[in-house]
Amino acid sequence: MVSTAPPSAFHRRRRGLLAAACMAASALLAAASAATPAAGTEPAPPQALDVLHWWTSVSERRAADHLDARLAEVGIQWRDTAIAGGAGMAAAKVMKGRLLSGRPPAVSQLIGAVLRDWADLGLVLELDGVARQGEWARTLFPAVQAHVTHRGHVVAAPLGVHRINVLLYNRRLFDRLKLAPPQDWAAAERAAQALRQAGYLPVAWSDEPWQVATVFEALLLAEGGPALYQRLIVERDPDAYGRLAVGRALERLRWWRSLGSSGERPWTEAAREVAADRAGMLIMGDWAKGELMALGSQLGESFDCLPVPGTAGSHLYSIDTLAMLTGDYSRQSVQERMAAQLFSAPVQQGYNRIKGSVPVRRDIDPQALDSCARDSWLTFSRADAPRLPSLAHRMAADEALKDALMATVHRYAVDQRQGTEATQRRLATLVRALHKPPVTGTP
Ligand code: GAL
Repeated sequence: MVSTAPPSAFHRRRRGLLAAACMAASALLAAASAATPAAGTEPAPPQALDVLHWWTSVSERRAADHLDARLAEVGIQWRDTAIAGGAGMAAAKVMKGRLLSGRPPAVSQLIGAVLRDWADLGLVLELDGVARQGEWARTLFPAVQAHVTHRGHVVAAPLGVHRINVLLYNRRLFDRLKLAPPQDWAAAERAAQALRQAGYLPVAWSDEPWQVATVFEALLLAEGGPALYQRLIVERDPDAYGRLAVGRALERLRWWRSLGSSGERPWTEAAREVAADRAGMLIMGDWAKGELMALGSQLGESFDCLPVPGTAGSHLYSIDTLAMLTGDYSRQSVQERMAAQLFSAPVQQGYNRIKGSVPVRRDIDPQALDSCARDSWLTFSRADAPRLPSLAHRMAADEALKDALMATVHRYAVDQRQGTEATQRRLATLVRALHKPPVTGTP
């Protein structure tokens, strides 16, 4: 039976002591195993951890395999459970089922609000000792540090920062048709017309609700600017939904959709349309950049990446995190070693290069990143840059509010009978009804 009470101070202290004791024990073990083994002794078998995640595309698979290989080097076996479905829509349900039936995996991709929910139930291992030893506070981006900290405790290992406000465009097609890069909406509109006339799809599109919401939030930032985005999505001020910029974002969403082929399909198919020179532009998080590269497209030659028009200088982010789950304390020291290894600079760099995201660390050399990642990392690290949490990717609201807003935006996008102002009113009503003040990282 799962207790719904948040862990008491006593339990937290006990877990803290337990964590400290286990870390001391695992340090001793590590020191012992580093010593030359006595003649005839076999090397210790790798210690296995089940990892539940939703990385199933070509690039995601390769990124997970990279982690698997780096962990094997330190004697940890990544036992893979991958649940297909973009943005983890299916994986979140499988995870819930396993947790509630008392069969949690050792490690799970839990991000944003869902991570906090499970942490509140005491089901997520606190990684304060690992973070202290690895000096996460000194090396992590403060925004990531706040994101993995819940009620004063570190509750997940951060893997990478994705940027959502990214527009990928097919350079081969743009060059062939002598089109200017879609740096602003006027250039994007001209390109859309020329691409269509030449027989290409101007836009790669999918009607899957989370993909529609991903495009919409980028357009909301483009039309409303960071301050309004903050009011709408972070502060959730219902009155702000009446603003003209929200209506413009909704209408631009319909226009953008009209430039692609309709129908729900996985995001990987949209990426393939760009890779195969069938489509010209794609608004999608930079995991799509990782996918294009994994499909053999060259960044800067066959395709390129720009901030969505009107959003340069802002960073709309989604942070990928792996949580270590409680339940079986015998695996705690391996879970902690895994978290420490995932944070190491070489693992961060190798993984994020494949995944399309950027390292969560401040102490890397941005020159080592590709042009798209460099702009993302530099923008994310600028003290005065607006950093905005993604709604569609669970950074900004709980599941109930996220799903309700996403369904309304989706309905508007696919059903022409839905009026713009009526949709704005509906969004305001949902925000008013479902608003819960966010829990911050600090105690
Ligand atoms: C996001 C996640 C990315 C990528 C994407 C598409 O939520 O942060 O890592 O997997 O979904 O599924």
